[in-house]
This record gives sequence, C-alpha cells and structure tokens, in this order.
Amino acid sequence: MPNSVIIGSQWGDEGKAKIIDYLTEHSDCIIRFQGGANAGHTVVVDNHSFIFHMVPSGIMYPSKICIIGNGVVFDPEQFLTEVDELEERGISITDRLYISDIAHMVLPYHKAIDIAREEHRDDIRIGTTGRGIGPAYADKANRIGLRTGDLFDWEMFKEKLTAAYTQKKYIIEHVYHASLDVSLEEIIDSYQLMRERIVPHIRNTAHYIFNCYKQGKRLLFEGAQGTMLDIDHGTYPYVTSSNTIAGSVCHGAGVGPSVIDHVIGIVKTYTTRVGNGPFPTELDNETGEKLRTEGGEFGATTGRPRRCGWFDSVVLRKAIQVNGFTRMALTKLDVLNTFKEINICTHYELEGKKIDYLPTTAAELEKVVPVYETHQGWNCDITECRQFSKLPENARNYLKRIQELCYDVPILLVSVGPERSQTIEVEPL
Ligand code: IMP
Repeated sequence: MPNSVIIGSQWGDEGKAKIIDYLTEHSDCIIRFQGGANAGHTVVVDNHSFIFHMVPSGIMYPSKICIIGNGVVFDPEQFLTEVDELEERGISITDRLYISDIAHMVLPYHKAIDIAREEHRDDIRIGTTGRGIGPAYADKANRIGLRTGDLFDWEMFKEKLTAAYTQKKYIIEHVYHASLDVSLEEIIDSYQLMRERIVPHIRNTAHYIFNCYKQGKRLLFEGAQGTMLDIDHGTYPYVTSSNTIAGSVCHGAGVGPSVIDHVIGIVKTYTTRVGNGPFPTELDNETGEKLRTEGGEFGATTGRPRRCGWFDSVVLRKAIQVNGFTRMALTKLDVLNTFKEINICTHYELEGKKIDYLPTTAAELEKVVPVYETHQGWNCDITECRQFSKLPENARNYLKRIQELCYDVPILLVSVGPERSQTIEVEPL
C-alpha cells in the first residue's frame, strides 16, 4: 500500500479507527501526528472493544511499528494506562512503540486549567474534553512547554517543572479563582515512576520515519478529530487546538509533503458533533435521537451524547478542498438501515441566497439554512454485505449521490458494521 494519511472529514468520530485498523494490515508504520488524549479511537476485534486515546490504534497488529509524532501532545498517564491494558491482553509493545523526543507533554496543571478556564468563561464554552489539550499547545506556542526529551535529564526536568508549576498554580488560583488539587511533590513523584517506563520508548522519530521511508516501508498517518475541528479551517472558536487536516502530517511527524501518496477522508454517512458550536444539519428531534441510538453515538472520551444530523455535502466539499482527498471511506452505512427516508444537504441558504460553500465564521454558519434532497431508505440489514453490487439499490444510489456531490472523489471502501470484516472494498489504492 502507498503511504497514506487518514483524516476525519467532519467533526471527528467518523469511525477512523476501524478504517485505520483495516488498512494497518497493509502498512508497516502507523504514526499519529496531532491531537492528544482528546481523541477516542475505538477498535472492535472478535467482539472485544478497545478504546485508544494516546496509542496509535495500529498497535492491535503485533508486527507493526507505532509512533507518536512530535505534533501530538503526549499524556504520560493515559499512555501508561493503555500500555497496561494492552499488556494485560497479551499485546506486547516492546521495540515497536516509539514517542517523539520533541513531543510536548500534557501535565496535570494543563487539565486543571482546561476545566477552570471553561468554567470561568461566560461568553463562549467550547465543550472541551478537559484533557488539557489547549493549554498544552498554548505552552508549546509560548515556548514554555515540557517535552518528552526533557525526561532524559531528571534534574533539569524538575527545574523546568517547578517553574511551570508555580506559574500555572498562580494562574489557576488568581485568574480563574479555582484550585490546583495536585502538589508539585506529587507530580514529581509520579513522573519519576512513569519516567522509568516511558524513556525506553522515546527517540528521534522524524529520523526513524525517514529511514523507514527510504527502506520502502509503508507509512500510515493516523489523524485524530476531524476537519471541522481544525484550529484554522474549522468552526473557530469551537475547534480543538491543533491542525487536524492532512497538511499537519508534515510538521507533526517531520516528513515532507512528497512522502504522502494518498489522503483518505473518512466520511460518516450522516453527521455528528460533540461539544458546542454550529452544526447546520443537526436534528434536535426524534430522528436525531434515532441516529444516536442506532449509531451508538456517545463520546468515546467523555461519554457525552453526540449531536446527530443528516449528511452535509457542504462540509464535505470544504474537507476535500483543504485536505485534497484522493479517496473517501464511507462509514456506518448500516446505521441507516431502518430509516424510511434519508436526507442529504446539498447546499445552504444564507439570508435568502443559495450558497454551496462553507462560510468561514461561526456566526455566519449559525445562520445558514440547510437545503435537502430526500432519498428512499433500503429498510433491510446490510451488515452481512461484502460487495458493492450486492448492496440494495437505494443504498448504492445514496452512496453514488454522496460521491457526486463530493467532487466525484473515488470511494475506497464502505463500512457496514464495527468489525474489521464488515467492510466493502470499492476502489482499492
Ligand atoms: P478539546 O480538543 O478537548 O479542547 O475540545 C475542543 C472541541 O473539540 C470540543 O468540542 C470537543 O468535543 C471536540 N473534540 C476534541 N477531540 C475530539 C474527538 O476526538 N472527536 C470529536 N470531537 C472532539
């Protein structure tokens, strides 16, 4: 398989982990390049469900190399929780799970600030996962962050940590009028223990990835969140704090753009969003509730019910423009099995005028009215289907129409259930 990037095309939770898991079979190295433990990637194998927040989901294949790139904000506690779970289930990570030495770390005070800041704001509440992502990236941009490579020199690490802790405690107490429930000594003690287990995995991953590339190993870059949560191109300020689009691979993993052969957009056949912010096709009614129930639409990281709505081709066209998808993987088609009629948003109306592109401000996006066309459902179970031609005609028509509205980007595969095997290959890479 060529070197590929997997990107969420909507607001995250498109079912990326299943597709990554599926494509991992044909890859050698699986690399995360942005985001942090705010991601929740669920993989189902033989009826067992694994949820990864930090470790690349490709780890489920025993012979593959997994890398946490420099663009990720690394959460040591979450990482070790996942490593423990993997080891308990007999999955070894020795010599195949590496962390960039220049990845910034999420510390307990980042999580405290994330929560305190959100509670303190009366104007805009983002609906953050509370995993400390924004504050950790802010420290990186402010050049006061701690990086995993700092763990090599313990005395220097303690010095930097002490300075950062003192500053954050002051901000939490005096700006947000909240309290930091963990002492400096507690953080030092826990990091001393965690360090022993983490340091053996830390290395210069950009160098390692380049060597893999030169040796002809197949690279799979695992995106987290989705295009509409991108800090630049998403529905700002209701976004995450990283660039979630394909271009982010270059700085987040340390590779040049010419390394990338394919950009695969993961597209849920309806739309969901967790957290706050505009969502034009949202269904705040029984139909939305039905999508939530049938699709199991509850956050993998926070357990929050996801907001649900119809497929929005305007969002998808934007995602294709900013990511350059060369293929789309359409997911969760089976969730629509029992819907009599299914809507597709073809364009919007804004103040009475037709628009077929996504407005760039959240304020304008709040005002758009989605315009739909209605498709007949297929009203049967497609979870056993393994060939596109065997799908019911109405399901095929639905997918073809989505493709037509999405610049005719070829469909790589269609997912009809959570298991690896419940996948229909359409146009291979
Ligand atoms: P944060 O990244 O935790 O600060 O959250 C910012 C916004 O992005 C919130 O609306 C979250 O619900 C959303 N978000 C963050 N990570 C994910 C994800 O992996 N899937 C879906 N939404 C996410």
